[in-house]
This record gives sequence, C-alpha cells and structure tokens, in this order.
Amino acid sequence: MQKTLTINYQEYSSAQELNAKDRELMEAARKATETSYSPYSKFRVGAAVRLGDGEIVTGSNQENLAYPSGLCAERVALFTASVRAGEKCVVETLAIAAIDSNGRVAEASPCGACRQVMIEQEQRQGKPLRTLVALGDGRVREYNSVADLLPFVFAAEF
Ligand code: THU
Repeated sequence: MQKTLTINYQEYSSAQELNAKDRELMEAARKATETSYSPYSKFRVGAAVRLGDGEIVTGSNQENLAYPSGLCAERVALFTASVRAGEKCVVETLAIAAIDSNGRVAEASPCGACRQVMIEQEQRQGKPLRTLVALGDGRVREYNSVADLLPFVFAAEF
C-alpha cells in the first residue's frame, strides 16, 4: 500500500522576521562560525542552543586529519549544553549557520548523525526542540520538532 509522509516546517524570508530571542540565537550561531576549525573542508559551521533557563551555548565544527575524528557544530553545541546543564538539560531551540570556502553564507542542514543526537535530546527532555537553519539566500527554515527532521527514528528500550 502506498503511503505518504508529511513533514512540517516554516520559512522566513530573512532573519529580520524572527523574534528578538531567535534573532539573537541565530546571530550567536553565525558568530560561532568564527570558532570553526575546518582546514580540510573550509566549510565553517556554527551552532547555538538556547537552554530552558535562557542561557546560550555555542559550538562549531572541529575537524581532524583523521576525518571521522572531527565533530559537527550541532553535536559540539548539544554535548556542551549537556555538560553545562546536566541530566535535566532542556534545549529550547538550536540555530545553525554556515559559511562556505568563499566566505559566503551557505545552506546548513544537520547531517543524519546530528539529527539522531538532536532527537535523543528532544526525547530526553520530553519537550519539542526547535531548529532554525540559515539558508544560503538569507532565508531561515524552522522546524518545531526534530521528529520532522528524522521520521521513522531508531528507538529502542534498553
Ligand atoms: N558540518 C557541520 O558541522 N554541520 C552540518 O550540519 C553539516 C556539516 C561540518 C562537518 C565538516 O566539518 C564540514 O561541515 C563539511 O562537511
């Protein structure tokens, strides 16, 4: 039987359309691209998460000569948030921005491994984790739940 899956997301034509808190978070993600260590890909990614208490924690992609040893900006930010806030860590919103090797704003979309970490954070906190992604042309895409980024998620009871 043919079935169809729908995912929900919103788009803003520019970051100026975001509310002040989200604009601040997206600005923190853009700023975090400056902390990227990406000599191999030259693709600088910044991530910023807003925790339940309003605190902002940032991360950026950190590469390594042994390629898989590096880590994406999203996971650096989420794991740092977990260290900072502990077991009760609540991530309200994650913002992601990227700059390409020509120094231009590029589309950032979280990779599969990051989506898996994002959804575990969402499940762990029992509240939706919003994601804001800066697109290459200035638009911003918003997902209200990681479930829209990772349908048919792997979930197991241990
Ligand atoms: N990267 C991220 O940090 N986040 C993403 O959403 C996609 C890709 C990093 C991994 C690698 O350092 C570089 O961008 C190029 O793939």
